[in-house]
Amino acid sequence: MGDYTNMSSYYDVIMTSGYYDYAQIVDDLTRHGPFTNILEIGCGTGLILEEFGRRHSSARITGIDLTEAMLQLARKRLAKFPTITLATQNVVELSLTENYDAAFSYGGVWYFVIDGDKEPFMVSHISGEADNLIGLKKLADRITSGGTLLLGIQGPHFNYEKPISNGMTYAQEVAPHDYGFTKHYYLIDEGRKVMAQTIDYRTYSWERTLGMLGDLGFTFIPQSGDAGKFLAFRKA
Ligand SMILES: C[S@@+](CC[C@H](N)C(=O)[O-])C[C@H]1O[C@@H](n2cnc3c(N)ncnc32)[C@H](O)[C@@H]1O
Repeated sequence: MGDYTNMSSYYDVIMTSGYYDYAQIVDDLTRHGPFTNILEIGCGTGLILEEFGRRHSSARITGIDLTEAMLQLARKRLAKFPTITLATQNVVELSLTENYDAAFSYGGVWYFVIDGDKEPFMVSHISGEADNLIGLKKLADRITSGGTLLLGIQGPHFNYEKPISNGMTYAQEVAPHDYGFTKHYYLIDEGRKVMAQTIDYRTYSWERTLGMLGDLGFTFIPQSGDAGKFLAFRKA
């Protein structure tokens, strides 16, 4: 279930070789604020939280992730930020006690893919149907009334390989199946595979996503102009 242990020691170099634009992600998070108590679900090695903490030194932030190897890197990176707390947690078994005025996930547990003019669809790192409903409910219970849920937007996934900044080659292969797709991630160094990771993703149509989130009290908040890096939902 969404375990990033195999990729963890290469995660930062892959992501900062153009996979994600962290400055832009934090620009867009900031645009949706201000928030005072924020939760990131699937914070990984803390790259977003580092950029966010640098810009917003007074906001209280909690990052959770189920992959301990990713969190170990996040703990080192974020030690200098006294307002950031990290916890090893699977969102399906979320056991936080605080409430948050904003929760977000970028490439984390849940995110949207938007392919041109087509309707967005939601991608989940959680492959089981029942577990998704449990995780979304546990998350919803921690967001205050009037609070905001921000789920990241990505482009469509496709097969490719490209060199990254450490001289290795990053490759990914996507194989659709009946409830979503499987994605294989590889890192190749001088013809030798040094990292391989496979994640089984479940996908949800836009209509189904609105239904699931609507049942939990969330309404979609359309943005004027370019949606940027996140779709926003407001909790009743
Ligand atoms: C692609 S990484 C994104 C990390 C970070 N948000 C970033 O932008 O760099 C996805 C992260 O989600 C975490 N994850 C996947 N499923 C999860 C779950 N059920 N509960 C908590 N974290 C999860 C993985 O361990 C991984 O660190």
